[in-house]
Amino acid sequence: MKSSRAQYVGFLLFLVSILRCKALVRHTFVVEETPYRKLCSTKNILTVNGQFPGPTLYVHKGDTIIVDVYNKAKYNITIHWHGVKQPRYPWSDGPEYITQCPIQPGAKFSQKVIFSTEEGTLWWHAHSDWSRATVHGAIVIYPKKDSTYPFPKPDAEVPIILGEWWKEPIMEVYDEMLRTGGDPNVSDAYTINGQPGDLYPCSKQDTFKLRVEQGKTYLLRIINAALQDLLFFSIAKHSVTVVATDASYTKPLTRDIITISPGQTIDVLLKANQNPDHYYMAARVYSSALGVAYDNTTTTAVVEYSGKYTPTSPPPLPRLPYYNDTSASVNFTGSLRSLANDKYPVDVPRNITNHFIFTVSVNSFLCPNNSCAGPNGTRLAASLNNISFTNPSIDILQAYYYGINGVFGARFPSFPPYVFNFTADILPLSLETPKRGTEVKVLKYNSTVELVFQGTNLLAGTDHPMHLHGYSFYVVGWGLGNFDIKKDPLNYNLVDPPLQNTIAVPKNGWATIRFRADNPGVWFMHCHIERHMTWGMDTAFIVRNGVPPNTHLLLPPPDMPPC
Ligand code: C2O
Ligand code: CU
Repeated sequence: MKSSRAQYVGFLLFLVSILRCKALVRHTFVVEETPYRKLCSTKNILTVNGQFPGPTLYVHKGDTIIVDVYNKAKYNITIHWHGVKQPRYPWSDGPEYITQCPIQPGAKFSQKVIFSTEEGTLWWHAHSDWSRATVHGAIVIYPKKDSTYPFPKPDAEVPIILGEWWKEPIMEVYDEMLRTGGDPNVSDAYTINGQPGDLYPCSKQDTFKLRVEQGKTYLLRIINAALQDLLFFSIAKHSVTVVATDASYTKPLTRDIITISPGQTIDVLLKANQNPDHYYMAARVYSSALGVAYDNTTTTAVVEYSGKYTPTSPPPLPRLPYYNDTSASVNFTGSLRSLANDKYPVDVPRNITNHFIFTVSVNSFLCPNNSCAGPNGTRLAASLNNISFTNPSIDILQAYYYGINGVFGARFPSFPPYVFNFTADILPLSLETPKRGTEVKVLKYNSTVELVFQGTNLLAGTDHPMHLHGYSFYVVGWGLGNFDIKKDPLNYNLVDPPLQNTIAVPKNGWATIRFRADNPGVWFMHCHIERHMTWGMDTAFIVRNGVPPNTHLLLPPPDMPPC
C-alpha cells in the first residue's frame, strides 16, 4: 500500500518535471556568415540567424530559457547574456577562456539562461575576439505576468540598438591591431538598429524610421552595442525620460541628451508631443582621450509623426555635446538614481568585508627595435592594478571546478601596487609598463565588496566602462581626480544609488561600486571598450560556494565545449 502510494507520488513528480521541462522555452541561434551591404560596399559579417542586429529575446522576469547555439561559421564563437546574473550557473555565461572554451566551427552548445531579479532591457553578444561587432541583439525582460511597469504603460516599445560598422571585415581590424601593436582603425559609421542613416553615403534608403502618433508615449530600449565608444544620444525638439538602466528601474530623469557607454542599456519614455513632422534622433561619440583617433561621424534615424503634412526637409538635427565633453557625460551618468521605493527597494551593503581599490590604466610594452605602432614604437596594453590580463589556455571556471593547477593565479592585488598621483598631467614613462598575468580575486560566499575604480592618466586618460558579469552593483559614488579615502566615502549615496552592471569610470576620475558576493562562480570583470579588454583591462572574481547546498554551483551541462 505504502509503496504504491510512493510510486504514485513519484509518478506525479515525474509528470511535473516533464511539464516543467516543456515550460522551458527554446530558441535557436545559428551563427553564420551573411553578406550585408552598407556605405556602398558589401561584406560578409557574422550574424545570428542571418540578422544584423540579431533576434530580440523576449522573456518575463524570473524565466529560464534555453538557447541552442549552432556555430556554422568558420570562426570560434561564444555567446554571453550581458547583465543576466545566471545564479549559481556560470556555465552558460559565455566569455571565452573565463567560463568556457569557444564553440568550434560545426559545434553546438545549448545554453541555459537564468533570469532572476533583472527587469527591463539587457542584451546578448558574442564574447570571443571582436565578433560582437555584428553578433548581438536585445533582451526584453517584461515584469512578471501579474505585475506592471512602475510607470504608465507605453503605447509601444522599440529597441534602439546603437552599433558601429567598419567597411573592412572586423577580423582584419582586430588582427591588424594585434600585429602592429597600435590603435585599431576607427569605424566608418555608427548605426541605429543596424543602419548608419541619412548622413552617410548609400544609406538613406535604409535609415531606421520610428513611426509615432502625436499624443502617444513610446518606450525606447536603448542599448550601446558599439565596440569602442561611449555615445551621446538625443532626439531633435524632444526630451526623453529615463526610467531604467541595466534592467533596473530608476527615478524618472528627464533630459535632452543622454550618454550611454558600451555595455549599458537605458530605457527611456519618449512622448510624441511636438508638431507632426520628421525629427532626427542622432548619436555620436563621446571620446575624451587626448590624441587618440575616433570616428567623428553621426548616425541618425527619423522619428516620423503620422498624419498628413509636409515634413521639414531635411528634418531638424538634435544638438549633441562636443566630442570630449566630459562634464556633459558625467552630468548625465551621475544623475541616475534607483527607484528605491517600497515595491522596488534597494539593498546596499553597509558592512563591508572586502575593501578594494583597482587602478584602471592604458599602458604600453616595449617592442623590439621600437617596431610597434603604439607611442614611440611600443605595443599598446591596458591593466587593472598594473596587471595586464592574459587569457589562459583553458577556461578559468573549468580549472577552478576541477582543481586544475597552473591555469590562473589567485593573487590579484587588493590595492594599487604603486601609489602615485594617478591623474597627474605628466607621469614618468617607467610607470607605463604593466606586468602580464592571469590573476583573479577570490571572494567568500556572501561577503560584501566595496571596489573603487581609479582611472589613471597613463598614456592617455579616458573613460572606462567597467562591466562585471554575474552581478549588478550599486554605484555609490564617483568623482574627478584622485579618490580621497578619508573624504570621498562621506559623500557616498547609500539611499538610492543606481543598480548597474556597467559603470563608466570618468576620465581621470574614480567610481565606487558595492555588491554582495552571493552568486558563486567565476565572473569576468573588464572594460567594455573592446580594445581595452583585448589589451588586458580585465580580471575575474571567483566567488566560492557557501555552506548550505543551495549556495553551491550547479552542475555543469553535459555539452560544455571542449578546449
Ligand atoms: Cu557585455 Cu563581458 O560583456
Ligand atoms: Cu577602457
